[in-house]
Formats: sequence, structure tokens, C-alpha cells
Amino acid sequence: MSGFDDVEANDDLAIIGHRLLAWYERHRRDLPWRHDQNPYAIWVAEIMLQQTRVETVIAYYQRFLQRFPTLEALAKAPLDDVLKAWEGLGYYARARNLHRAARWVVQEMNGRLPARSEDLSRLPGVGQYTASAIASIAFGQDAVALDGNLRRVLCRLFGIDDDPGRTNTQRRLTELAEAMLPSGQAGDFNQALMDLGAMICTPTTPQCLLCPLLGSCRSQQEGIQNELPIRATRGHRPHRDVTAGVIWDDNDHVLITRRPLDGLLGGLWEFPGGKRRPGEALPACLHREISEELAIQIQVGELLVTIEHVFTHFFMTLYAFDCRWLSGSPKCLGCLDLQWVTLDELDAYAFGVADQKIISFLRSDSPSHI
Ligand code: ADE
Repeated sequence: MSGFDDVEANDDLAIIGHRLLAWYERHRRDLPWRHDQNPYAIWVAEIMLQQTRVETVIAYYQRFLQRFPTLEALAKAPLDDVLKAWEGLGYYARARNLHRAARWVVQEMNGRLPARSEDLSRLPGVGQYTASAIASIAFGQDAVALDGNLRRVLCRLFGIDDDPGRTNTQRRLTELAEAMLPSGQAGDFNQALMDLGAMICTPTTPQCLLCPLLGSCRSQQEGIQNELPIRATRGHRPHRDVTAGVIWDDNDHVLITRRPLDGLLGGLWEFPGGKRRPGEALPACLHREISEELAIQIQVGELLVTIEHVFTHFFMTLYAFDCRWLSGSPKCLGCLDLQWVTLDELDAYAFGVADQKIISFLRSDSPSHI
């Protein structure tokens, strides 16, 4: 491993940690989950913040806590209500896991979240990073919580030019962070590194002249801060064409279906349809999917809207068609549930972002390519 092999004494690292904390006291971001020490609220925030930007999370977090103010309230709520509160935030497995974990904590732990990161990481949806974040912020445990942002900051600080995605690099970064960690203040320390990564040591064009660690930053001294961390090339993200039918009956009701709980967008509602096979025409794809999944016959009309959407593992182009129900009573062959609803009633159901765009289109004269 390169960079920082000639490790400074741990004393020096501890001094860097204290300098970081002093900066945090003065410059910390005022974020709603930092206003109290309630472990449930901190848990909710850390789950929402997985893969999601702080600016996006704030409004969801506030609404979620108004709707489910306690762990017990969340455990008692139907999953549908939880998914509705999560609608648009993405990565819906997080909401399902949070709900399942809340029920488990109420039943098995008397409603008290465990305090140690080893125990927290046994909860559904809580990985090692999130467990350390909750244990340090809510319970004061001395645990460092390193995600991709913090690894970037540390790679730069210590001039490490190895792939931060590799286990060995991560172990080394964790050791260095632990040597910097001021005992008893891990919550602030982790959040100070998060704020430094968000405000100063940003992915592109870091603001080195404003950095409290400027004098200690190896990559800045060598002028390579813009080249670190080195980026592992991302795997190829495939592309899929997907069709969706806005299927009307004769009474202005539209057919929506609920996805199975496991898998992508599990438990959310959608306009039925599916993936196009190689060489298949889009209307033929929709006919086939609707007949396989619902056993009804439809007439496929005009293309209403085309939506581009990025998932973690693939790009999707979603083609929504205006359709008319012709015959057959729909059966849930490939879905969890189905409903005929009016446009107004759609609000009561939780949809993923791409399907919400179809709804917006149906309610307005939006452009037909989103
Ligand atoms: N990202 C993950 N956890 C966070 C926190 N507690 N504050 C700011 N950003 C975060």
C-alpha cells in the first residue's frame, strides 16, 4: 500500500482528530437529526441517508417522524403506510427492512434499540457502516463509520492511492481513522468527517484553502488531491426497454398492480407491463406481459410518454401506452394485488419515481419524453 507508510506517530493522528472536532464545533451543518439524541430518530435518518443526499432526505425525515413519531408507532403501522411515506425516496427495501426491524425490536427487545454496533448490525437493513454510525451518534460508542465519502477524505488526507473499494485499503483506512478518533466523541468525529467531505473535501475541486486539515494533508502537499481517490472502473450498466399499460375500463378506472415484496421496488404499485424481449415490438411486448401477468385482453393505443430512469444496476427506458381493457377479469398471476382506481384515487398508493411520472403526465400536458 502506498501513502502514509512512514506513519506519523499516533499522537499526531490524535491531534488531527482534535483539530477536525474543533472545526466541526464551529462549522457543523444544522441538520434536523442532529437536534436530539433519540436513537429511533437517528436510526431513521441513517437509513434514509444510505445512498441518498442530505438535501433530499431532510423533508422525508421530517415528514416520516411526524407520521411515525416513535418506534412503536412505526411497528404498529401497516407496511403500505410506510411505503407511502417513503414514496419517491428510492431503494424501497430500506423502508421494508426498517418496518420489519421496528416490529422485531418491539417484540424481542422491549422496544429498545440495541446500543452496540455488533448488535445493531443484526437488524434488517443495518450494515456495518450504518451500525457504527448509529452506535456512535446515538449511544456514544467509539466506532468509526466509513462510507465512500469518508474514504475519499481519508485517501486524500493520507495520500493513499490504492482502490478504496478493496478490503485491504478499507482496513487500513479504518485503522487510521481509529487512531485519529478522540475517545468518547465518535459521533461528532464521524459527522465532522461527513461535513468535511460534503463542504470542503468534495468529490471534484476540493476547497483545500478552507480545510482545517490543510497542514496535514499528504495529497495536497503533493498536489494530487484531484487525482484521489483512484476510481475503480464501474461495471457496465445494461439498458432495458420496459413497457407499461395505462389500462382504462369503461368507467374511467385505471388498472394498477402491486409488485411482489421481494426484489426491485418490492411492495410498490405500478402500471402493469414488463421487459421487452430482443426484437419484440413495444405493443407486442405489452400485450404479452398483460396476458401473462393478468390474463386479460387489452387494446394497445398511442404511446403517451417515454421516461428515462437510472437504477443501480441498469438504465431503463419506460414506454407508457394508453390502453383499453377488452375482456377477462384480471388475476394476480405475477403481482401481489391489483386495483381499479380513478385518477384521484392514485394518491393513496405508493409508486416508484418512474410510475409517478406517468401519473404526472396523466394529470397534465407534460412533455412526452421525461
Ligand atoms: N450521511 C450519513 N449520515 C449522516 C449524518 N449523520 N450527517 C450528515 N450526513 C450523513
